[in-house]
Amino acid sequence: MSIVFDQQQKLLTLATANTSYQMMIDDLGFLHHLYYGSRTGMQDMSYQYYDFDYAFSGNPVECRKERTFSLDIIPQEFTSFGVGDYRLNSVAVINSDGSRAARFQYVSHEIRKGKYAIPELPAAYENGDEAETLVVTLRDDVTGLMIRLYYGVFEKKDIITRYTEFFNDGNAPISLEKAASLCLDLPYGNWDLLHFHGKHCLERQPERQPVGHCLTTVGSDRGMSSHQHNPFIIVCDHDATEDHGDCYGMMLAYTGSFRAELEQNQINAVRVVMGISETAFSWTLQPGESFHTPEVILSHADGLTALSHNYHRFIRQNICRGKYHLAKRPVLINNWEATYFNLDEDIIYGLAQEASALGVDLFVLDDGWFGARYDDNAGLGDWFVNRKKLPNGLPHLIEKINGLGMDFGIWIEPEMVNEDSDLYRTHPDWAFASPNRTPNFGRNQLVLDMSRQDVRDYLYGCFSMLLRENNISYVKWDFNRSVCDIYSNALPPERQGEVVHRFVLGFYDLLDRLTSEFPDVLFEGCSGGGGRFDAGLLYYTPQIWCSDDTDAVERLLIQGGTSYGYPVSAMGSHVSAAPNHQTGRIVPIDTRGVVAMSGAFGYELDLKKVSDEDKREIKDQIEQYHQDEELIHQGLYYRLTDITKKLHYTAWQMVSEDRSKSLVNLVVTDPQPNPAPLHIRLKGLDPNALYEIDEDEHIISGAALMNAGYTFPPMMGDYRSLQMHLHRMKNEV
Ligand code: DGJ
Repeated sequence: MSIVFDQQQKLLTLATANTSYQMMIDDLGFLHHLYYGSRTGMQDMSYQYYDFDYAFSGNPVECRKERTFSLDIIPQEFTSFGVGDYRLNSVAVINSDGSRAARFQYVSHEIRKGKYAIPELPAAYENGDEAETLVVTLRDDVTGLMIRLYYGVFEKKDIITRYTEFFNDGNAPISLEKAASLCLDLPYGNWDLLHFHGKHCLERQPERQPVGHCLTTVGSDRGMSSHQHNPFIIVCDHDATEDHGDCYGMMLAYTGSFRAELEQNQINAVRVVMGISETAFSWTLQPGESFHTPEVILSHADGLTALSHNYHRFIRQNICRGKYHLAKRPVLINNWEATYFNLDEDIIYGLAQEASALGVDLFVLDDGWFGARYDDNAGLGDWFVNRKKLPNGLPHLIEKINGLGMDFGIWIEPEMVNEDSDLYRTHPDWAFASPNRTPNFGRNQLVLDMSRQDVRDYLYGCFSMLLRENNISYVKWDFNRSVCDIYSNALPPERQGEVVHRFVLGFYDLLDRLTSEFPDVLFEGCSGGGGRFDAGLLYYTPQIWCSDDTDAVERLLIQGGTSYGYPVSAMGSHVSAAPNHQTGRIVPIDTRGVVAMSGAFGYELDLKKVSDEDKREIKDQIEQYHQDEELIHQGLYYRLTDITKKLHYTAWQMVSEDRSKSLVNLVVTDPQPNPAPLHIRLKGLDPNALYEIDEDEHIISGAALMNAGYTFPPMMGDYRSLQMHLHRMKNEV
């Protein structure tokens, strides 16, 4: 049993293979958070805390005489504003009388078999009987606002999921102004925050900083999870490394505006609160109504690598769904960087012919195939084939490409509309715009109001017809601007605070309808590259285009940063042209292959301009990828170098879960004169086994490779790379 209630001590303990999580209901009904971390069994962890009179930290009326109990001091599971806790709060309300207080006390709890689901939102699922659910109900007795705290415990995977349901059990409306998914108090320790910031073309760069007494916030108010910040953070011991130290991961499965807030209080305890961004958010709960927050996926591990492994496994097995989530992915070619908008049937078919000769499995027709789409000024919203570019229509082109032995995929951008489009001319009120204001443009486009059922029905009609009438086996779903001017013409003024979240719910609704109706289609998420790289989207699309920066050297940073929380199988990654279109850098074709192969692999370049020698290399890469795909996508991923330090090389390694096979990847980004030997300790191998190394036919023990390391030959020249395969020979050294 992974959830245990100790009736006498009023303790609720959640147990996973290597962690414990404990809370306690006190005599007044307050829900204390006692512990989360390495396993402590069923030990009552309340021994860690003392009552003490802290000045200016007031007391609930029941203990005002002793003055040693304060909501401002005790660690709690969920906290509220206005009743004596001055720290970060998890909920803010405006009650019908205008007051802002809410005080939550325990009502009941329930332990259930299986994993809960969340209405209208993505949520982790279980495979077989691998999860249990705890629901703790708290209530504010004055207004009747109830909070149901949900915990999903995946014992073997060291994962605990959380989400919050707010239920109005009173008889007057209550306005939610903040509704967090998670509050986690870390009462003791010396913590760093590791978060992932970036920009278009350089997403998810790790930045590590001490958690201090000031309020630290990571988040997005762009209506999307964003290029700038990712809804995944790690709070780790100040001394934690890849291999050791307390590391807590917190990942919000949400594609919209979000917040992760951290603060160290006056007695050095740290509180983390995570959920939907409160900017422009409010939600009126009428009596009898519920509001459901997105889910947070929590994990604790000893070291950053183990934490990453927990997330990689969980995302692959418990978040991603559908035919492709564990299956081999097709090697694709995308025409975007080969043609941009300049495409027609001959150009596309010519590219496809070249690609099929090299063994590519799938051709993806990117932006520019529909409406009056000759550049990015027009056409979005008119999802009908452009007959000037493709006079014989899509079915004809697809048939020709299928005739080459390749599947066909297509690009769409459902939530967007150009002013210059028939859709906008017919329905200008479907685009977000505040009354009496001209909306802001991004890439010349406006954002459709996805909170409206009629908008979603129109889009569903377009794309379900596209997928029904054509033999399409892959869809790239793009989103090319940040959202603003959020205002829905379909809702009254007092409900406009709901639109920012309803926009995301509407997006999920459309995704859900299309992915359910077309289960054999592989959907790839995208947002100008990796602007919506989050667990919420991965629930619908098992891979996401990682970045519009296809430069292999830049991708070392982008994919490396992404790897802290997300598996390789989720990262769309292509070999593109040299010089690279984003940076002008010239990287050899084999190195471009090594880097792109650590992802959902593909190509994105004009094969007509590629030399015969490079074509031979591409053919070899595709063959190798097919051989290694299982190891790359399902294996354990190790960062062998720290991408936050400016080393002159980057190395990473995949090891199969049974430790019989491994692939080591190395790229020298900055060649050195008179180079010192490049010496790296490998990881994750079986210390008692012998491994054959394919490059030099050596046989070396796992213990030696991990404890003493391996010395690579010096490499001269620009951006040289190598891959080394290891095969376990026998189990005794
Ligand atoms: C942004 C994507 O990330 C690119 O790959 C490409 O699809 C363009 N949009 C097309 O407009």
